[in-house]
Amino acid sequence: MGTQKTTFNHPFLLPFSVFLVFIFVSAESTQYSITGYDPEDLRSEDRVTELFRHWREKHRKIYIHVEETLKRFENFKRNLRYVIESNSGRAGFAVGLNRFADLSNEEFREKYTRKVKKPVELSERWHTRRGSESECHAPRSLDWRKKGAVTAVKDQGDCGSCWAFSTTGAIEGINAISTGELISLSEQELLDCDKTNDGCDGGYMDYAFGWVINSGGIDTEANYPYTGVDGTCNSTNEANKIVSIDGYENVAESEEALLCAAVNQPISVGIQGSAIDFQLYTGGIYDGDCSSNPDDIDHAVLIVGYGSEGGEDYWIVKNSWGTDWGMSGYAHIRRNTNLKYGVCAINAMASYPTQTYSAPSPQPSPSPPPPSQPPPPPPPPPSPPPPPPPPPPSPTECGEFSYCPTGQTCCCLYEMFNFCLINGCCDYTNAVCCTGSDYCCPSEYPICDVPEGLCLRV
Ligand SMILES: *[C@@H]1O[C@H](CO)[C@@H](O)[C@H](O)[C@H]1NC(C)=O
Repeated sequence: MGTQKTTFNHPFLLPFSVFLVFIFVSAESTQYSITGYDPEDLRSEDRVTELFRHWREKHRKIYIHVEETLKRFENFKRNLRYVIESNSGRAGFAVGLNRFADLSNEEFREKYTRKVKKPVELSERWHTRRGSESECHAPRSLDWRKKGAVTAVKDQGDCGSCWAFSTTGAIEGINAISTGELISLSEQELLDCDKTNDGCDGGYMDYAFGWVINSGGIDTEANYPYTGVDGTCNSTNEANKIVSIDGYENVAESEEALLCAAVNQPISVGIQGSAIDFQLYTGGIYDGDCSSNPDDIDHAVLIVGYGSEGGEDYWIVKNSWGTDWGMSGYAHIRRNTNLKYGVCAINAMASYPTQTYSAPSPQPSPSPPPPSQPPPPPPPPPSPPPPPPPPPPSPTECGEFSYCPTGQTCCCLYEMFNFCLINGCCDYTNAVCCTGSDYCCPSEYPICDVPEGLCLRV
């Protein structure tokens, strides 16, 4: 009997918990209402425990002690309540159960922010340093990622090194733009060797730019990899001056000046990034609860472009909290508000490195190409007919601000209060989602037999 079962036990019944996309569908965007939602439910619900288990699986969270598990669970519940309550009353952006969902906001601030050293002596000349270029020809949108000037999202871990990631990101950007080569650079060298900053205890991008200039360059990420703890400067690696810069500039504190700077290259910025909304941010255009007072700046990130959606303008911001935060590690932060220093004070501490390599470079065009350009003459027909171009990827929407790759199916893995708290991507096209489980079946075998681990034909 067992033998017979195994013959049917083909690998079709696919668990998709590994593909989980953790999002939260806000009541705003669905036909569901959370009227009647009782916060008390969250305390007694077995399902919250189940949800926590799913979340821990997805984020590979292991707690050693029972006490810690209980404490994390309490934080998780508090954050879950916050997610449900705040998403239901707001459009624009969403918070959700991302990798920081088991941290209280106090713990989060302690671990990940409060680390941008505000240089008192430099702030004096802040307004005057830069020629305040506030008029320029800026395209309507710009994404340096599409121009090969941005490395993959990195993860600073439990170390207050945001300033180092913002610094390397800006140098990687200008170096890619001026040389055509995108080289990932070493934050660890900045942590270990740059004594003008404080390693995991914080730092400041301008000091780091200055340090790179003075030391003649910086090593690559590959040579001098990130460990996430302060270490001893490795002088062998420090001698590798793979990428150098010539100087740096501060950007005047205005939307226009920041835009004009971002047209030329990715820009290092300081923000106030410790609010609970930012901690749990999962997507959309952020204009959440944060201070726009420059004195409150406690995090450093990198502007890698800008755009607009539904009449709202935003900056494209690369963070260093891994890809399980925000939109695969990125945030859109609202721009063109009437706040003097911008949302989360993003206009207040912007700077960028300069590099004057003479290598021929694909200069960013300040304006979109004229539409009237005549098409290039058709090439002579090749002897074998060219294969048809691959179809453009069309990811399917899977919850708010999240997508499943082409060829996969969006399934709701965990539903509560009539909306989906956890979505997952199943590895089959037009798959059948097995209700109440982490499994899905291909359309040719649409019947889920979860206990047996089988997908059956009709
Ligand atoms: C410094 O880096 C080099 C090259 O990566 C390595 O071989 C060496 O062991 C490192 N030295 C120390 C003291 O860690």
